[in-house]
Amino acid sequence: MKILAIETSCDETSIAVLEFKDRRFRILADVISSQVKVHRPFGGVVPNLAAREHEKNLPVTLELALKQNLKRLKDIDYFAVTVGPGLAPALAQGVKFAKKLAKEYQKPLIPVNHLNGHLWSNLIPELHNKWQSLRKLKFPAVCLIISGGHTELLLMKNIYDSKLVGSTLDDAAGEAFDKVARLLGLAYPGGPEIEKLARKGNPQAINFPRPMIHQKNYNFSFAGLKTAVLYYAKVSSFKFQVSRIKADIAASFQQAVIDVLIMKTMRAVGEYQAKTILLGGGVSANQAIVGVFRQATNNTKHATRNTKQGIDFFVPPLRLSTDNAVMIALAAYLQLDKIKKQGKKLPWKIEEIDIDANLGI
Ligand code: KG4
Ligand code: ZN
Repeated sequence: MKILAIETSCDETSIAVLEFKDRRFRILADVISSQVKVHRPFGGVVPNLAAREHEKNLPVTLELALKQNLKRLKDIDYFAVTVGPGLAPALAQGVKFAKKLAKEYQKPLIPVNHLNGHLWSNLIPELHNKWQSLRKLKFPAVCLIISGGHTELLLMKNIYDSKLVGSTLDDAAGEAFDKVARLLGLAYPGGPEIEKLARKGNPQAINFPRPMIHQKNYNFSFAGLKTAVLYYAKVSSFKFQVSRIKADIAASFQQAVIDVLIMKTMRAVGEYQAKTILLGGGVSANQAIVGVFRQATNNTKHATRNTKQGIDFFVPPLRLSTDNAVMIALAAYLQLDKIKKQGKKLPWKIEEIDIDANLGI
């Protein structure tokens, strides 16, 4: 079964084709056309500009996908598209394009929740075009999605059954990275820039607040941390141009985020006796964050009292941490698989599929 998926929820125009045989799959096409350069002068994504770029890029991205291992569109069995959450004008372009394709080739269209893409991207072990098996997970699992728009902690009983146990009350983790980066005069997107600069700084140099770290819930808040960085930058402005201080700010900010993320996740692991931790979303590209999770799962000293046995830790291949259509094709497949297992018919009609910019998980 071949699925062609389209992702346009933010500033990446992406098309991928995956072929599935039961739990095995291979990637036939995987194209990401990034708009970073277009948005960089504005310091963030401009929704209407993103929509215009998607409209322009979608046909070109499809051409590139066809040149990989797909060859003919009539071989596609299902089309899939991200319907939310994301930027409304950007999502609308992807959905319009997907509907046209599905109608033209008379194949079903599957609406996909972008967050399910990030959640399930962890099932992809490696990024290559050979046949491979979807990763088998031990349950219960705790999944932390950290992206530009979301910070969500989920408890998964199995692949299809996940419950939201906590989320951010204000800024998302990626948003905090982007805002602090802008404050430090770094380019958009700020996450990778902060990570790079933080390598040169001392993470213990400044004791930034760790919001909500000791609260006995799984919610997050990053707005206060961002304000603390802003305040620190203001009062130390006379020495702010010194690059070592900037690096210390980046490293100390990143450490504050890491401390909160790991603490909350490990507490959830303890409470729910989780056997697996999954990390997903753009911020999971951050190797400092990944390193701390690796260490915590190898070293049970970090774990709470109920986690004496080993915990599996998975993070998607780097390219699949940030937005991509490979994870959307996989999410579509898993949705189909669930419906088939329940013996139901496909519930979606092409004309009725619409975007939902605020779609929850
Ligand atoms: O998942 P994603 O591509 O888009 C959304 O669904 O939001 O995530 C984008 C976010 C941006 O805020 C970006 O700064 C952040 O992920 N990001 C990073 C890194 N790479 C991307 N944050 C920290 N460190 C990174 N290496
Ligand atoms: Zn995303």
